[in-house]
Amino acid sequence: MDRLASLRTHMESLRQGHLLAGAEALSSQDRDALIGRIESIGWEAIPELVEHYVKCRPAAASGEIVPASCATVDPECVCDSVSLVDAGDLRERGEAMLLAGRVAAFTVAGGQGTRLGWQGPKGTFPASPVTGKPLFRLFAEQILAAQNRWGHTIRWYIMTSKANDAQTRSFFLDNRCFGLDRRQIMMFPQGMMPAFDAESGRVLLEGPAALAMSPDGHGGSYQALLRSGALDQMEGRGVEAISYFQVDNPLAPVLDPVFLGLHADSERSSGEFTSKMVPKCGPDEKVGVFALRGGVPGVVEYSDLSCEQAEAMDASGRLCFAAGNIAMHIISTEFARRVAVGGEDGLPWHRADKKVTWYDPASGETHAPTQPNAVKLERFVFDAMGIAKKPAILEVSREAEFAPIKNASGVDSAESSSQLQSDLYGGWLEQAGVTVPRRADGHVDAAIEISPLTAMSAEELCGQNLPAEIAPGSDFVC
Ligand code: UTP
Repeated sequence: MDRLASLRTHMESLRQGHLLAGAEALSSQDRDALIGRIESIGWEAIPELVEHYVKCRPAAASGEIVPASCATVDPECVCDSVSLVDAGDLRERGEAMLLAGRVAAFTVAGGQGTRLGWQGPKGTFPASPVTGKPLFRLFAEQILAAQNRWGHTIRWYIMTSKANDAQTRSFFLDNRCFGLDRRQIMMFPQGMMPAFDAESGRVLLEGPAALAMSPDGHGGSYQALLRSGALDQMEGRGVEAISYFQVDNPLAPVLDPVFLGLHADSERSSGEFTSKMVPKCGPDEKVGVFALRGGVPGVVEYSDLSCEQAEAMDASGRLCFAAGNIAMHIISTEFARRVAVGGEDGLPWHRADKKVTWYDPASGETHAPTQPNAVKLERFVFDAMGIAKKPAILEVSREAEFAPIKNASGVDSAESSSQLQSDLYGGWLEQAGVTVPRRADGHVDAAIEISPLTAMSAEELCGQNLPAEIAPGSDFVC
């Protein structure tokens, strides 16, 4: 039997025969491309996924939800269930890991960035308040600053997707890797999943020779790390801890010694999976919270908390479910490998109902739906927390570490992120003795940008050549 006929038999047995309905009418090149694309999918798992996630709506996991306990180093910055830890002690541990070269940076940059609407990989988005440095440059500068401090090369792993991999690589090459050595950066694309018709469970075609595919979520990073050889490379070079962060937060500390120290503190953590949280700014903030569900630690989506739970306060007037996930994790290489090979049955999938434009091979027409017609499946990186033996969570300051760029305008936009960056750097300048203008609402009334190569903290600014004051409405860069 030829390749097309045997694939057709296989697809028909899976009730996906429509994918090849128009194959004969294609040019031989397009037909081969379509066959290759269909063959690249892991079909063994698809029928069960369709039954479990597409035809049914999986019920939210059951079990009582209670707040997770967290650690903080700042007594002023506490929410519920927090234990105070010694920052100095943790910092020393983390610094020892950095000095020994046991840590690599890992950026997940495979998302589609639909809400932002930027043409190109999100990491190329101009993010700094004055000079508009792209997100990738800001992280590269942090890595350069860390190398200067720790005295050796720090490896940077970047997960892309099939849709943005080539553009991301060219962007780095065009910018001479922002001063880093090309060999210290490894990029690899994440896995893709087909989109399913919500009614029938049939995989959708995007065009006559292409399936409708999208990235398999940031939780796909475990398998992508394994498949690409990144985990082998890390282990071969003595890297034990992966510092995971998202591409869309210009303030994300790429390598944080205190965070690494908590991860390595065997009293508090198994050293497998450690996370950061910031206290939610209010009950309505749409962010997942760290919590235990049925005794298992993880992130509970805001939509899974009842109003009563979201608004519940403890005796001191703080939200009970306050530990907002800001997507910063330290993951041990050993644990990442265990998750990637499906340890404890692997990570669950999450269903998202989306509008997906699709091609009908029977009529030859393309349909652009106005209502969600399709199901996409994604995995989430933090679901691995439930597999880790003793995951630890560190409370950090929102102002210092979190200024995400998700949306084209409003909350979590480039504009709000720029203001948050200026507020942070304005505060550093004030600590260094500079007069910084502030508006009545307390926000800094200037655009201020401090390169990680100049300073990584307020302390590092002290003693530098700084002006006595910043004029209202002006730009300041150093
Ligand atoms: P988001 O959940 O914000 O998704 O990703 P997104 O795709 O970037 O943006 P929207 O929802 O389409 O507007 C959070 C982080 O996870 C990465 C993103 O690149 C971002 O750093 N991510 C997300 C991946 O690497 N792969 C994915 O499949 C999804």
